[in-house]
Amino acid sequence: MIFDRWLSRASSSPPAAAVRPLAPADATTVAAIHAASFARGWEAGEFERLIAAGNSVGDGILAPDGRTLDGFALSRVAADEAEILTIAVAKARRGRGLGRRLLAHHLGSLAARGARRVFLEVEAENAAALALYRGFGFEEIGRRQGYYRKADGSTATAIVMARDLL
Ligand SMILES: CC(C)(COP(=O)(O)OP(=O)(O)OC[C@H]1O[C@@H](n2cnc3c(N)ncnc32)[C@H](O)[C@@H]1OP(=O)(O)O)[C@@H](O)C(=O)NCCC(=O)NCCS
Repeated sequence: MIFDRWLSRASSSPPAAAVRPLAPADATTVAAIHAASFARGWEAGEFERLIAAGNSVGDGILAPDGRTLDGFALSRVAADEAEILTIAVAKARRGRGLGRRLLAHHLGSLAARGARRVFLEVEAENAAALALYRGFGFEEIGRRQGYYRKADGSTATAIVMARDLL
């Protein structure tokens, strides 16, 4: 499998958390995780619509109880290109390899849907996300100054990253 290297890294820790496709019924949980992670939250209804859309690919990583979600990733695919719209892990569950496991699985889902190149945008000061993406071979392809508006009214630069899926 294409992402063996990352999956084997994840499997050196305690039993890997299961990842499953998102369903529209996950919208409320996903919106809550998202709202706790970003200055501007998205409504549950917006997530419900996005998850149900035919060009969306969503994955959720299960909490130890095997039912609730500890995190999710949501992307849009058009022809052989994908864009990661958002990825987040519940605050209390970060720093345990869940983001890495989720992204490894999600890139596999995107490849299975025909994506050959993946794009994303990340805030230049988001050290955790940058570390995650760089660890998966994403490279900076551009910058958008003042792209994000923060809660305090200031702006932040967006880094545009991309990587090929083999
Ligand atoms: C980004 C995010 C999904 C990472 O999830 P996570 O479960 O904490 O990540 P992991 O524990 O799998 O760590 C992934 C990598 O990031 C690194 N990392 C994690 N937190 C970090 C931090 N605060 N600072 C620097 N690096 C960090 C880890 O060391 C690891 O690197 P490695 O693979 O070289 O060991 C999580 O921090 C999050 O949900 N943030 C809020 C939402 C967000 O910013 N999403 C990205 C939007 S573009």
